[in-house]
Amino acid sequence: MLKKTFAGFLALLALFASTLPVSAQNTLAKLTLHPDQPTTAVSPMLYGLMTEEINYSYDGGLYAEMVRNRTFFADWSGIHNWYLYEGGNAIAKMVRDPATGPSTALPTSLKVEISQAEAQSPAGILNTGWWGMALRPGTAYHGSFYAKSDTAAIGPITVSLVSDNTGKPVATATVNGLSSDWKQYTFTLKTGAIQPSSANHLAITAAHSGTLWIQLVSLFPPTYHDRPNGFRTDLMEKMAAMRPQFLRFPGGNYLEGDHINERFDWKKTIGPLVDRPTHRSPWNYLSSDGMGLLEFLGWCEDLHMQPVLAVYAGYSLAQEHVNPGADLEPYVQDALDEIEYVTGGPNTKWGAERVKDGHPAPFKLTYVEIGNEDQFDRSNSYEDRYAQFYKAIKAKYPDLQLIATMPLKNMKPDVQDDHYYVRATQNFADAHHYDKTDRNGPKIFVGEWATREGIPTPNMGAALGDAAWMTGLERNSDIIIMSCYAPLFVNVNPGGMQWDTDLIGYNTSTSFGSPAYYAQVLFSSYLGDHTVASNIENAGAKLFYSATINSAKKQLYLKLVNASSDPKPLALALPGSHPAANAKVVRISAPDTQTTNSIDDPGRIAPVESALHNVSSNFSLTLPPYTIQVVQIDLH
Ligand code: AHR
Repeated sequence: MLKKTFAGFLALLALFASTLPVSAQNTLAKLTLHPDQPTTAVSPMLYGLMTEEINYSYDGGLYAEMVRNRTFFADWSGIHNWYLYEGGNAIAKMVRDPATGPSTALPTSLKVEISQAEAQSPAGILNTGWWGMALRPGTAYHGSFYAKSDTAAIGPITVSLVSDNTGKPVATATVNGLSSDWKQYTFTLKTGAIQPSSANHLAITAAHSGTLWIQLVSLFPPTYHDRPNGFRTDLMEKMAAMRPQFLRFPGGNYLEGDHINERFDWKKTIGPLVDRPTHRSPWNYLSSDGMGLLEFLGWCEDLHMQPVLAVYAGYSLAQEHVNPGADLEPYVQDALDEIEYVTGGPNTKWGAERVKDGHPAPFKLTYVEIGNEDQFDRSNSYEDRYAQFYKAIKAKYPDLQLIATMPLKNMKPDVQDDHYYVRATQNFADAHHYDKTDRNGPKIFVGEWATREGIPTPNMGAALGDAAWMTGLERNSDIIIMSCYAPLFVNVNPGGMQWDTDLIGYNTSTSFGSPAYYAQVLFSSYLGDHTVASNIENAGAKLFYSATINSAKKQLYLKLVNASSDPKPLALALPGSHPAANAKVVRISAPDTQTTNSIDDPGRIAPVESALHNVSSNFSLTLPPYTIQVVQIDLH
């Protein structure tokens, strides 16, 4: 029934798509555009991505690791996501062993004592994955673990992917030769002609008695660009469609941690996984740190984005701060080392470390952000902390642009990061927020923003709020050099979300873009390089627009947002211009502000392309209710 109503609505939209005679409309909004009068430059880096470990964004999200809790974290409830397996009359027990592990970073392990087992009744452990393990037919999954045993008699270890529904293995591999020393073992699990499903788990068993110690159990599906230790393809493709120009990482609150010792300590996130100790994220779960500094940079490389590197600046969320001066010096040095790891040549200490980690070429870096949301530091130490970082970084890297996370009184930062989490009505009212901002002040980075309506992902009402806001970002993009929505990701499985209204949702095997995601795809796909002189009459409170020009292609991009429940007729004048008669329209539209996409209905709202005929220097169109659209007009 719902589907039928929606189809009717789409048919109605087709009617609105036709042009209207200009004359008949006296309450008509009138928009005059001068494509031959470029006004302000549009920042080519206006749209990017903001990311942190929240809502299972990396672990259980982008980072394609299929084993959950691969390092055997345990609390009062036991060892998360790991269970004992005793087939038939097998007898075994498992316990976390604090006395032995494969590395200094991972000094503990899981001890599996098998006192009785045989081929038909093996014993071992199983992992339930991130709400299951997504398997596809004819696919190779590459895995590894570190292990040792007290006896060679324990025999080969069997690793299987097992269907939760049948209890039968769908892929199996054997690992031989466990010894009394810690060693890494690798295996490949290849599925046959199975149905795609997430209802699977991993089993690691032996058919003889003996004791086995195991640590860092890992399993990866094919990843985007086949990057080892890489990323989920569906999520990378969704981001690629947004044409992001930069990635702000690693936070957000994730940079700061609740406590200083829970900050994003980048040196503990590089090198082999076995040398990464893991750490607690402020969003209340353990981060595997598989997504370390070099993986963030690889993500930038894959999507052709510039890193916007946020460095820890001496403030953590539980009101812990480091006093500026001598106490802060080690943290400043850490930031300098981090910049060197990203940008340094092979003859620098940290550049050489990056080369050793497998990336000889330095990365391009223009922007470094000093901290995150330091206005919440009640010690008011940020002015001095920022100044200390600024002095040290500029002395070594004078060309870097240093972002402050709050307005400063004592100095003008290169760039200031502003954050906004609001309702749609606030964005409608605030779409002109930056129109009168002092052009002699710092450049602006809107480093986190979102219209927070819709759980877990934004609905059409939120997308309309976002789009109204984005018209203001574009109009003021002479000072707003970058902007990014937050949070980017949410795992929609039960318990996956810590912060609601997130741009892209996913479960274990599939993902979807919200209406707000598509609004961003529209805006970033038709950016342009200059705004053009314009004027609107009779706009009313719910019509928003941005007009830019792509000088090289001689194209005018007109973004129009009708946030009203009524259709909005609009007369357009392009005095002195010679537009092509046929223009392209790309639009998202919905019957209601609450209409949304979901994991079960991912395509309810998606861009629809159509042609607009009879375009001239004076023409009209009608915007359907609740619509975000781009009109691309070729100019002769
Ligand atoms: O985006 C969610 C959180 O909001 C970020 O971690 C923090 O910077 C902001 O308060």
